[in-house]
Amino acid sequence: MIISLIEKKKHGQELTWDEIHRMIDAYVQKQIPDYQMSAFLMAVWFQGMTMEETFALTDAMIHSGKVLDLHDLEGVSCDKHSTGGVGDKTSLVLVPLVAACGGVVAKMSGRGLGHTGGTIDKLESIPGFQTTMEPECFKQIVKQVHAAIIGQSSDFVVADQLLYALRDVTGTIDSIPLIASSIMSKKIAAGSDVILLDVKYGEGAFMKTKEEAVKLAECMCQIGKRFNRKMQSVISNMNEPLGLAIGNALEVKEAIETLHGKGPKDFQTLCQEEAAILLHMADLVSSKEEGIEKTRVALENDQAFFKFLEMVTAQGGDASFVLDPSRLPKAAYVTDLYSKKTGTISTLHALSLGLLAMELGAGRKKKGEAIDPSVGIVLTHKQGEYVDEDTCLAHIHSNHILDDKWIQKFYESIEIK
Ligand code: URA
Repeated sequence: MIISLIEKKKHGQELTWDEIHRMIDAYVQKQIPDYQMSAFLMAVWFQGMTMEETFALTDAMIHSGKVLDLHDLEGVSCDKHSTGGVGDKTSLVLVPLVAACGGVVAKMSGRGLGHTGGTIDKLESIPGFQTTMEPECFKQIVKQVHAAIIGQSSDFVVADQLLYALRDVTGTIDSIPLIASSIMSKKIAAGSDVILLDVKYGEGAFMKTKEEAVKLAECMCQIGKRFNRKMQSVISNMNEPLGLAIGNALEVKEAIETLHGKGPKDFQTLCQEEAAILLHMADLVSSKEEGIEKTRVALENDQAFFKFLEMVTAQGGDASFVLDPSRLPKAAYVTDLYSKKTGTISTLHALSLGLLAMELGAGRKKKGEAIDPSVGIVLTHKQGEYVDEDTCLAHIHSNHILDDKWIQKFYESIEIK
């Protein structure tokens, strides 16, 4: 059967709902070998998929594992998904912020891979924080606290786990129907009614141009609507890192500062903006502007911070590390690197800074590798800011002495004109 489907796709013909379902079921049951599925994925990469095919693929993936039903929770459950980037710690702030403003957020997040970080790795820098639990326990926390973040369990969307690993090694990641069905199958299986997508573009993101990001966002919104989800998307730039911190515990620290209303401006603005959209989508405010005002108050009076504390405690984390973030894992060395030039920072290359943080141990090259929560880069400036020769550009947190090659690459990742 699979050979005829590969042939059909190779010649740009449309597969039926039934054909796609049978193929995905057979692949999950190991009746189709990886080499044939790889050929099919490559045919999709070249020929694309119609929306009907993309809906069918999403549906087949959703039903390849457990599906969470959140309808017995009080209130509209909200979720947000970022396509990932460097320094993207948005979920750590957004989830408690929306909950502090009256929303219910049940979030399933991923781990970092390559230059992009993952929310689950960041949260695990807080000692005791549990990112795996039974669905009933997760729902109980959402019921009590109105906010919870867990990792994707291996029982959910089994087909995506298998296909993603295969795409990763066959050059078939960057295909809009494959990315859209992969992300949306996980979002729909996670059960929320309201979904906000943050689709990033730029050198630190999957989508290199804004046009591609818009196409991906449109495709994902269409899928969500087909599955009766309320959908909205924002398109945001990932040419420079988000905020100033890159690295797990360092990003948790920055998220906590932001929850006190003292975060880097670009990061805090994005968190408030996205929280306001979710509150509006969930009909908790009558306009986005009202949502922004509500989030401003929740940050100013520490309601969002206390919600984070409540969530961390409910998930088994040691609250004392949130109350005193200086206790979070610390690296052996902190090296300050100074500007060699006077001028304006024209580019902070997100991709190379992400890769440099990964080299320090903040990220993993391969799935399953251990990471070091303590290491990373804390920038002191953003693009467009003026620096002179003795200005410190960044504090580098490492567990070994930095070598010359690493330092050289760091200077190459910051352009000053
Ligand atoms: N993230 C996903 O979950 N899937 C993709 O295909 C790409 C990014």
